[in-house]
This record gives sequence, structure tokens and C-alpha cells, in this order.
Amino acid sequence: MACYFRRAIAEQVSQVLGVPAEKILHRVHAVPVHRKRPSADFQIFVKSVFDDPGDAAFYQEKTQKLLDKLVVDSVVSEFGLARGILTFKVNRPLLVKKVMHKIRQDGCRYGFSSELVSDFPKGLTLVEYSSPNIAKKFHVGHLRSTIIGNFIANLKEAAGNKVFRVNYLGDWGLQFGLLGAGFSKFGSEDKLKSNALQHLFEVYVKVNAAAEKDEEMKRSAQEFMRKLESGDPQALSLWTHFRGLSIEEYAKVYKRLGIEFDEYAGESFYREKSHDVLDLLRSKNILKITNEGTGVVDLTENGDQSAHSTVMRSDGTTLYITRDIAAAIDRMEKYNFDEMVYVTDKSQQTHFLNLFKILKMLEKDKVDRCQHVMFGRVQGMQTRRGDVIFLEDVLDEARSRMLQNMAKTDTSKTTENPEDTAEKIGVAALIIQDFKGQLQADYRFNWDEALQSCGDTGVFLQYTHARLQSLLTLWNTREEEDFSASCLQDPPAIATLQHLLRYDEVIYKTLKELQPRYLVAYLMGLGHLANVAHHSLHVKGSAPEVAHARLHFFNSIRVVLANGMKILGITPVDKM
Ligand code: ARG
Repeated sequence: MACYFRRAIAEQVSQVLGVPAEKILHRVHAVPVHRKRPSADFQIFVKSVFDDPGDAAFYQEKTQKLLDKLVVDSVVSEFGLARGILTFKVNRPLLVKKVMHKIRQDGCRYGFSSELVSDFPKGLTLVEYSSPNIAKKFHVGHLRSTIIGNFIANLKEAAGNKVFRVNYLGDWGLQFGLLGAGFSKFGSEDKLKSNALQHLFEVYVKVNAAAEKDEEMKRSAQEFMRKLESGDPQALSLWTHFRGLSIEEYAKVYKRLGIEFDEYAGESFYREKSHDVLDLLRSKNILKITNEGTGVVDLTENGDQSAHSTVMRSDGTTLYITRDIAAAIDRMEKYNFDEMVYVTDKSQQTHFLNLFKILKMLEKDKVDRCQHVMFGRVQGMQTRRGDVIFLEDVLDEARSRMLQNMAKTDTSKTTENPEDTAEKIGVAALIIQDFKGQLQADYRFNWDEALQSCGDTGVFLQYTHARLQSLLTLWNTREEEDFSASCLQDPPAIATLQHLLRYDEVIYKTLKELQPRYLVAYLMGLGHLANVAHHSLHVKGSAPEVAHARLHFFNSIRVVLANGMKILGITPVDKM
């Protein structure tokens, strides 16, 4: 529908300038709404329409020509010029009708059904995220990977892609040697059954400490690892047991975040295939054996400083990167994905650059469709138990802090399931705090700031959604009935509808850069506009026709707000 207006504008401009309308279409932008003064609806930067750079006089002439020749019609009601930018105002009743009808018609596809977005290639997107290491800390980096990966998967799905969500667990390595060697001494089957993640971590810490002092323990850990590597059935069965219970536990915690994975893969899947990788590298003469006996791939480019990636230890065992090469090739063959996204912190940037280079050397062309989305470090994320060790602790912390805040306000006493509501709001607070800035930037986390109810927080978004929902429930609107556009001409309504016009452009930018902050900023803007409208456009006491139109209007806002929140990974609450 923004497209409807864009097209009408593009066609007029095309006729005057003799430039194809298709080209102009993407140059027509919805004007960001100004909080204090009314703005036009669309704008074109005249210069952007032409490929060849002209001089100032050239653009001045073209702009003047447009101003002379453009005509007011049933769609466009006004033209203007501000600092070289041509602005358009569209027919007011049409603006109201088109925006609201489109939202009603498209539902969660609103914004995504736009021509702008449909240009993005569709297909199978594999998103690999979260990927914690069993028996080790689930640190803040894993938390960020979890919520960012989920956001990307949701976004791609909304854009019409098929999405396959993979959790690539750190489920192999010396920690299992230690667990295998020390479980009989430090572990308990009961504790394992009641909370596998916590218990395995405890045991791991104890065995690790013991192995540092006790050579015997160290040797038996190495021995257990060797057994695992060689496929000893007994060792493998204990490993399977640990892994299985851990996954059950992870799944429960992810569920609290509304996250499910299509596959729990892991490094262990590739312990054999990573040896095939070595063979493949050998057969292509890419594997070099150093004097120390390690296997490396030379990644030196254009005679730059030499750069190597070690893919084999001197004892013949493989490394993290070798398993990643195997996993990438396996996924290319097994899933034949159209694109793959890895989500990890930026300390792994070189790892993924090297991985992609090696895949390129192996002529795996799909590597051009692989992308590493990275993020910065978070400081100060503490729970009452101290540093983040388990995802569960973060969620508990968010919930209990939010419950405390809710207890202070009397409105929330009526909430049926306060724990659940508190959790959803707490998670929203966490997500918004994390998604506000550029993903690659480091930032300092602050619970008090994140949990404020005003300001640009997740609590504010939840609060706005719940407010709109309560209003709608109270008045019990019927969606299918028509409404009169002339009842929605007040400035707060128009400003909000103008903002809704911009949604597809925001989605476009978000998809292009895979950065959630554009969507966050947009939803904050929508939230503020919704609250202004809520204050001034009363339903109670208005003429029935006006009340009816306003309810429709508030529902349109609610739908888009909820859609955007869900993409970010937030479950909107109806009451709080
Ligand atoms: N388990 C790894 C870690 O905690 C992250 C895995 C990232 N994915 C990958 N394909 N390497 O650092």
C-alpha cells in the first residue's frame, strides 16, 4: 500500500522526466514523522533518480520542470520543495483507507508483502545460532547469539523464506574426557536427571580442578577422550547420555524464550567427516605439513604476510575449524540451502573468514551465500548468583526483577498469571536493551535501565501493546465492519498512519543489514505515536461512528506493533 502511493508518484515523475517508473519507485521514500510538526508523506531526492551525475543547474532545471508539470490528482494532493527534496502529500481519506485496509488484509504479512521486500531472494535459509558448549558456561555471548539468531530466523521467515534453525553444540572435546573420567567420583545420576546442565557444569569444574593437581586424573581424562575418539561403545554411551539430557534441558529453557530448533547438531557429528576434509585438502594439494607435524592451509593472499590456518594437530586429530569445514560442506550437500547465516561474537571473525577462504579454495561455490553475523561484548550482565553461567539464571533474573516492579504498581494486581507476564516483559526488556545499538558494538548491560517503564525499553513496548489490547477487549470491535475515513483526520491519527506507511522501508533496511536496531527504533516511534493518539483520540464519549473508526485505527497499530515485536523475539502481552 505504501507501494500503491509510491507507484502513483513514480508514474507521474516518470512521465515528466522520461525516466522509467520502475527506477523511480525505489527512490520514493516515506517521510519520517516529526513529533512536533506535520510533515509530507513521501519524498524524492531528485538527484537520486539519475545515474549520471549532473551539475547543480541540471538538477535545478529538472526539479523546476517537475514542479511545473506535476498535477494534483485523485492520489496526490500537494507537492512541495524543501532543500532540493521534492515532497508529496497524498489524499487524506485515501491514506487512511489504504493503510488500514492493507493491515487488515495482510495481517502478519503487512510490510513484507511490499514490492520493496519481495525483491529479496527467497529460498531456504539456514540459521545457526546459540551453540553453547555442553558442561561449560552458557555465557552472555551465547545469550546474544540466541536472541540475535532467533531474530534473523524470524525475519527471514516473515519475508517468505523457508528457515532451518540449527544449534551447533560444543558437544565434543576434552570436557567430555574429564566428565567421563570423573563422573563416577563427583557426579550423581539423580542430580543429572533433575538439572543436567547445572550438574555437568559442577562436575566439570570439580574434575578440572582435580586434574590440575592429580596426574592420574589427567591421564584418565585423556584416556577417556581417546576412547571416545576411537568410538569405544561404552564411552560413547556415557557421552550420549550426557548429551541427550543436556539437550532436553536446553530445549526447556529455550522454550521459555519461545525458541525451538529444527536440529541440535554439534561438533561431534563431524569427527569422522573432518578426517574426510583432511583427505580432500590433501588431494587438492592444499594441506601443508609443517616441521612440527601439524597440518595447515596457506591462506596468504597476493604475497601478503603469511597467514595459516591449522586444520590438523601433530597427533593427527582435527580442530574446531576442521569440523566447521566438514559441517559447512555437509550442510551444502544435505540441505542445499540458498543461504546460511552463522551468529557468533566478533572474536570469531577470523575463524569464519578463514573458514570461508578454505571453502572457496575447495571450490564450494555456495560459500558465497554464507554469512557471518557478529556481535560485540556485553559487560555488566550479572544475576544474583553472579556472572551468567546458565541461560535459566538470566531468565529467572529478568522475571523476578519484573515481578518486583509489577508489585509496586496496582494495575498489575489483576493479571492472571503474573509470573508468566513478568517473564514475557522481562525478556522483552532484555531483548530491546540488546537490540538497540549496532550489533557489533560492545555495550554495558544495566537491569534497572532495561526495566524502566518509560523511555525506549521493552517494558514500554509491552505496556503499549497491553494498553491497546485492553482498549480493544473492552469495546469488543468487530474487524469486518467498515469505518469512515473522515473520522480519522486528526493530526495524531494522520501522523501515526504516516509512520505505518514507512514500515516496509524499515523492513527492507532490516533485511538488508540484518540489524535489529532499525526495527526497534521504528517500534519505539510507533509506541510513542500510539500513546499520544490514545490520550487524545478517546473512544469513550465519542459519537459511535468516530468511536468505531478509532477502534479500528488502534487495532491497526496493535497489529503492526505485535508483528514487529514477534520478529524481534518478543511475545506481546495482552495485560499487565
Ligand atoms: N560453540 C562455539 C562457542 O561457544 C560456537 C559455535 C559457533 N558455530 C560454529 N559453526 N563454529 O564458541
